Amino acid sequence: MSIEVMRGDITTLAVDAIVNAANSAILGGGGVDGAIHRAAGPGLLAECRGLGGCPVGEVRVTRGYDLPSWFVIHAVGPVWYGGGSGEPGLLASCYRNALIAAQMMGLLSIAFPAISTGAFGYPAEDAAAVAVGALINADRHGTGLHRALPERVILVAFDAESEAILRAALDEGCSK
Ligand code: APR
Repeated sequence: MSIEVMRGDITTLAVDAIVNAANSAILGGGGVDGAIHRAAGPGLLAECRGLGGCPVGEVRVTRGYDLPSWFVIHAVGPVWYGGGSGEPGLLASCYRNALIAAQMMGLLSIAFPAISTGAFGYPAEDAAAVAVGALINADRHGTGLHRALPERVILVAFDAESEAILRAALDEGCSK
């Protein structure tokens, strides 16, 4: 499994699945959630309405509709309350459960935004370390599901600061 950092708009990536930073209602919102719904078109919301929401740390899968990606994996990240409310474990679960969903569908490529680091207030450096740690742990030890992991994982940064933070976290994580 290759892990790379890319700066850009996740809605433009022609990968098998993009991950959405959703909320537990999974009915759209602002930030990357809003961008994904705008790019996907109304069919995405129509499918989301049938999902019945999603607990924090878990994911739900829909088609990609007008997006260049085949699927959207909606992940519900934790809101940051200071780090003592299980936030790191819940954030790691988002990455792990998204990988498991990709394994179940036999996907070869998946792109993640920096889940929880916008409206949900998770400090970007801490979140990047959790994200990289979860991905590297899955690559080294598996997810428990005995299916192939995606070959290509992209961590998408929306701005230069986020890109630098993700690159530093990846360099640090790979050196351990
Ligand atoms: N492509 C890639 N990354 C993006 C894009 C985009 N088009 N738009 C925003 N981002 C980045 C933000 O810069 C941030 O680093 O996604 C990261 C996550 O920020 P949010 O979208 O605010 O998501 P989050 O912090 O997880 O909060 C989720 O906000 O938008 C609502 O409905 C959403 O209630 C949910 C909450």
